[in-house]
Formats: sequence, C-alpha cells, structure tokens
Amino acid sequence: MIDSFQTFKSYTSTKYDQVLRPQFHFSSKKNWINDPNGLVYYKGEYHLFFQHNPKSINWGNMTWGHAISRDMINWTQLPHAILPYGNGTIFSGTAVVDNINSLGENTEKEKAIVAYFTHAQKNKDPFYQSGAYSIDRGRSFNLIDQGKPLVPNQGFSDRKGRRTERDPKVFWHEPSKKWVMVLWLRKADRKNKKDLGKVRFFYSNDLKNWEFLSDFDRSWVYECMDLVELSVDGNSQNRKWLIYDASFDYEVGVFDGKSMITNNLNYLGDLGKNYYAAQTFNNSPDGRTVIIGWMRTGKKSVFVDNNMPFNQQMSFPCTMELKTTSDGIRLFRWPIKEIESLYYSTNLYRKNKLSTINKKLAKNRYELIDLYGSFNPKKVNNFEINIRGQILSYQKGKFYFENTELPSLNRSLKSFRVLLDRTSIEIFIDEGYSVSTNYAVSEDSNKTIKLIGNEKVIFDLFKVSSLNSIWQ
Ligand code: FRU
Repeated sequence: MIDSFQTFKSYTSTKYDQVLRPQFHFSSKKNWINDPNGLVYYKGEYHLFFQHNPKSINWGNMTWGHAISRDMINWTQLPHAILPYGNGTIFSGTAVVDNINSLGENTEKEKAIVAYFTHAQKNKDPFYQSGAYSIDRGRSFNLIDQGKPLVPNQGFSDRKGRRTERDPKVFWHEPSKKWVMVLWLRKADRKNKKDLGKVRFFYSNDLKNWEFLSDFDRSWVYECMDLVELSVDGNSQNRKWLIYDASFDYEVGVFDGKSMITNNLNYLGDLGKNYYAAQTFNNSPDGRTVIIGWMRTGKKSVFVDNNMPFNQQMSFPCTMELKTTSDGIRLFRWPIKEIESLYYSTNLYRKNKLSTINKKLAKNRYELIDLYGSFNPKKVNNFEINIRGQILSYQKGKFYFENTELPSLNRSLKSFRVLLDRTSIEIFIDEGYSVSTNYAVSEDSNKTIKLIGNEKVIFDLFKVSSLNSIWQ
C-alpha cells in the first residue's frame, strides 16, 4: 500500500462545527467520501469503511476510509484502512468476520476481519477483485496474496470496451456452509446498442479461492450489488432474499446457495434523488439488518461551493424488513431506534387540531428534527408541512415531496416521519413503505415547523423531537 495516501494525521485539527456540517449523519472530517464499504460488526464495534479521496474534496484516489461506532449513531474516524497499491486504487466492497477461521489468519485473541474490494486498475487495465485482512479489529490490513486477483477479471466488456466489473459483496451462507460473493458485471449487447446488467455469484471455502456458482442477468442492475436474507412480516421462519443495486432497485426471491430465483419483478426502494450504493452490515449482533447509503449531492455541491473541508455524507442507518402488502411483498425501511439517544426534547400532541399544533410549534425553534405524524385519511384531505423550508404535502390521499409521489398503503391510518439535518431530508411514509432520501439544504435562518391546511383537521399523533449533534 502506498504510504503517501495515509493523510489522516492532517485531519486531526479539523472540527465538526462548520455551518454546513451534517450533525447526525456521518461525513469525513476532511475530503471526499462516497459509497459505504465493508460494513461489519465485530466485538462491540460497528465498522463503517467508505470510499474516500484522502487528498482532495472531489472524487479520486480511491482509498478505504474508516470510522467506528458502538451504536451506529456516534462515529469516531480512524486512519484510512486500505490504501491504493500497484497500478490501481481501492473501489467498493465488503467485509466479513471470519468466524470459522476459513482464511487461517485468526489469532488466539482476534478473529480476522476480511475485506474484499475491487482493485481498479488504471490505463484501461481490467479491474479485478482482491482482498485484505485485519487481525487488530480493523485498525490495520494486510493484503491477501500481495493484493493479487482473488477473482480475476471475467472477460466481459461494455460497449466502450471497459472491463470495469466491481464491488464484491461477500457473506456467509449458513445452509450450504459456504462463503458467497456477489459481483456486478456488465456485458455489451452490440446488436441492440445497450450494455446489459449481469450479476455473478461465486462461492469459497477458504475465503481465497472462488468458484463460479451462477449468473443473474437483469437489465436493471448497476454497481454495488447486495444480497441479504430478511424475515417476512416479522416471522423468522418465513425468510426471503433481497437483491438490490446502487440505485436501489430491488427484487425479492429465494437464494438457494447456488442461484437467485425470483418472479422477475423489480421495484424502486427509494423515491428521493440521493440514495446510492447502500449496503448492509455483516455479522449483525442482534438479528437486525441495518443499511446505510451514500446520500450523494448530484453534480453541484453546496459543501464545495462554501469551502467546507469535507464533501458528501452518509444516510441515516435504517433497519430493513419485508412485509406483505395488498400488492405483494415489499421492502420497508425505518430509522434505527438508537436515534432516540439523541433526543433532548420532544413535543407530543395527541388528537389535536392543526391550528392547536401550529400554535404550539410556533413557540419553539427547531434545528435537527425527527418528526412523526399520523391521521385518518377519511377525515383529512389536504395539508402541507413546512419543515425549515422543506415541504412535504398530502393531497387527496397522496403524499408528495418535490412533485414526486410517495405512495402510501391502503389503510385507515396514514403516517409520515421526517428526519431533517442541516443538509438532508429523509422521509418515511406509512412506517417505511415509501422512503425518499434527499440531499437538501435547510435555510439557516429558518428554524420553524408549520402546518398549512384546514385548521380543524385532527392529527391522531404529532410528535417532534429535537436532536443533539453527534459531534459533541
Ligand atoms: C458507486 C461506485 C462503485 C465504485 C465506486 C468508486 O458509487 O461507482 O461502483 O466501486 O463508486 O468510487
């Protein structure tokens, strides 16, 4: 690994007090971040590795940055974990805890955390998948086989001739007692002038030698695949597999240790503008499946325009569950309960009129917000809620954010939840049935929450919690 990429020492004097610093979402002390990588739990610590440019505020020099947390809320950034080497940089990937010493590197004291990533070679040399392991709880990594390919390039190229397959996801598959790797590939379909999405599954017994299992060809797949097993309707006896890509299209089906079988229907799991390249924690200590995504800004970044020392942020961690709806099984996402540790004051109104709630809200100033409301759709037609300038509206049975409909369930109670940080808004309709994740900059001078609509409308519940910063 090339030492000059280890710039973390120069970060230590940087604080988290800038005007545009997200206050309960992770960002790097300094410089650029994108995808979360290698999310894994080990010995009381959640590890968040991430795509990082250790030398600049913009994308490049891809290195795995590193932060740890005991609760997925408060993060401590550590020295960069995996640095570029040879002819390439370190693209996205995964990390597992080697619970059964498959790699043979466990020590008496520690199990190995084994990371897989794409070695993204320069000068159009084909990308390949390699690995590294840590026997000091993720503090330092040794390349496996000097970082040579563990999974060589599979030989497909897209229409531009790029051989850039990438972003290995690895997990332990208990029924077949094997490690499984999910890899995104792309194949040119020159006849139809398209690139076809392709996912390839591999297995390994020793976390080093990988054998082909099967292919999963879908037009919707693009980068950063994840495959994870979830309970349906909270029933641990009824489990299904969720496969999704970077833009968070997903399918639900059965992964039998060899291939993924689905009914071929795919859905979009986030209706906002800025949820990308999400992944779930491996080795979860409590059976929950928690996901974090990159909340990207799109082309223009207010962070860069305002000379912030950092650029980009992560989404708030959420649990994922599958639930049966009238349209079939769908994915639900919900902020982790640990968020409550940040509440310092909560206003709770039960069965109150819109006008009464508004009067009470007007007395307070809000900055970092977790807000929840519910109402009977038979009695409420339209309203808007203006949260520090961000507007969620409800019109004739439908929720909208920035002209995009956020579908809700057909039931006698509707609900909405909004997390608002300085530079983001995350919206959850009907307990996480529709989710919209957005990079959005709230007006610094506007610290109000206001309901707009028929004064007599009753909300079953309206609850606003103010949050502490995680950076104190
Ligand atoms: C997704 C992505 C990945 C790649 C990484 C590079 O945002 O393009 O496919 O590994 O970013 O930073």
